Amino acid sequence: MLTSSPQWQALAAHYNEIKDTHMRDLFVADQQRFNKLSAVAAGITLDYSKNQITEKTLNLLFDLARSADLEKHRSKMFAGEPINITENRAVLHTALRNFSDQAVYVDGDDVMPQVKATLAKVKRFVDAVSSGEKKGYSGKAFTDVVSIGIGGSFLGPKIMSEALKPYRQKHLNVHFVANVDGCHLQDVLAKLDPETTMVITSSKTLTTQETLRNTESAKNWFLQTASQDDVKYNFACVSTNIAAAEKFGIDLDNIFPMWDWVGGRYSVWSAIGLPLALAIGFDNYQAFLEGAFEMDQHFTSAPLDQNLPVILALLGIWYRNFHGAQSQVLLPYYHYLRGLPAYVQQLDMESNGKSVSLTNKEVDYDTGPIIWGSEGTNGQHSFHQLIHQSKTPIPVDFMLPLHPHHDVENHHDMLASNCFGQAQALMEGQSEAQVIAAMTKAKCSTDEIKNLSSHKVMKGNKPSNTLIFDKLDPKTLGSLIALYEHKVFVQGVIWQINSFDQWGVELGKALGNQVLSKLANHDEPLTMDGSTNALIEMFRQRHQ
Ligand code: F6P
Repeated sequence: MLTSSPQWQALAAHYNEIKDTHMRDLFVADQQRFNKLSAVAAGITLDYSKNQITEKTLNLLFDLARSADLEKHRSKMFAGEPINITENRAVLHTALRNFSDQAVYVDGDDVMPQVKATLAKVKRFVDAVSSGEKKGYSGKAFTDVVSIGIGGSFLGPKIMSEALKPYRQKHLNVHFVANVDGCHLQDVLAKLDPETTMVITSSKTLTTQETLRNTESAKNWFLQTASQDDVKYNFACVSTNIAAAEKFGIDLDNIFPMWDWVGGRYSVWSAIGLPLALAIGFDNYQAFLEGAFEMDQHFTSAPLDQNLPVILALLGIWYRNFHGAQSQVLLPYYHYLRGLPAYVQQLDMESNGKSVSLTNKEVDYDTGPIIWGSEGTNGQHSFHQLIHQSKTPIPVDFMLPLHPHHDVENHHDMLASNCFGQAQALMEGQSEAQVIAAMTKAKCSTDEIKNLSSHKVMKGNKPSNTLIFDKLDPKTLGSLIALYEHKVFVQGVIWQINSFDQWGVELGKALGNQVLSKLANHDEPLTMDGSTNALIEMFRQRHQ
């Protein structure tokens, strides 16, 4: 078992040695701490000096990574071996952004020719829609795209196009619909003209209830003004399930393949990224892929102690397994990057929210943390309080571009100062002596000092990483996303779990379908638990 390994045991013992060490003192003792504990890759600087670590901690963490055969597992993933063992699949999102001339084999076949051909098809499609050469059924150029998909078939394109808003093509609006809640589809379609709207269904399986229902409803909306034969002009689909897409009436020219070795939460690099490519133009989309490729090269070549994904992963394990941190908060200090926590939420929690090991045993340690967060500075005025002063350890990743996409005077300095100031406050805190000195200076009475000082003390010693980059451009965004993908991979390897399946979501889907049948058919007997039966009954009686 992992927890009885000498490397794990050494870390557990080291935690007891270091748990009361304050980072404030570590900074005072070593003026070079930032230089020693920061690293750069693909234009992203990672400052990890504000962590409760010493050189010894890092060495023990690297020992843990080596004992997990990290390098061997990494090579297996990039080489297309079926590391998703519960589904017997390769895991090759990296092949989708492989700009080297190296072949990548799955079951003896090089997948690169089909990857390149699909990317070329995406380019032709995007260029033709953007230039107006490709038209809707009535001969008008497209003005709007409605992308229908959920989970990985939604979050990637939606959040990346939000993050890259300054790069958007002006004449094409791309809308995203995921939820089966009809409010969403209704709101989006209400503003659109079927003649100038392209509907793209994105679904790896093309069996997902929400996506099928939304596509049917979008089609019904379209057929109010157009005919079934016109579907071939205005509908497109990205899926592994080409036959089902054709059955739906979609023209083969508008169907984009993907493969079972692309996981949903890793699929923005495949043709699932088509709506993103339409939103920002093909060249920007390609730069996004290139950014990820650069991070892949860093991940596969940099030594462990300079390897950004490895360092982030090991720090995460240090807090999750030895400090008892349940969650990890992501705080992008950039409005356009506000969706990142939701993106990483699926990436991390669907990947590492597991408790059975690769050898089919229940693990006796915690795995994936709860991922949450939102844009700075907004969170400072709501949930940061808990990070600063509760007893719960919550490691933070701050993110900040040096150059914003605006020239509104002074705003970016203020944003940056808040980002740095929060990290500093979390690390340093405020001692009782400092609080009393400040209150004395402010002429507070002895009683006030006695009653308030303990509330104002901030223990500090709260860990954070800061990720800084020049500008949130397509390439940097690609690198940033790949950085988190590889972090999650490294953690999965160390925790000895399969990061690439998601059996847990299947039960909910199956039960949801059983309930749907009972809602539609009032004669079906209610055979479920008392609560579910009562809720179904209430819905049957009151919903018309
Ligand atoms: O329900 C979870 C999930 O399987 C995700 O992993 C996936 O991204 C999403 O559903 C959508 O699946 P599909 O692309 O097949 O519609």
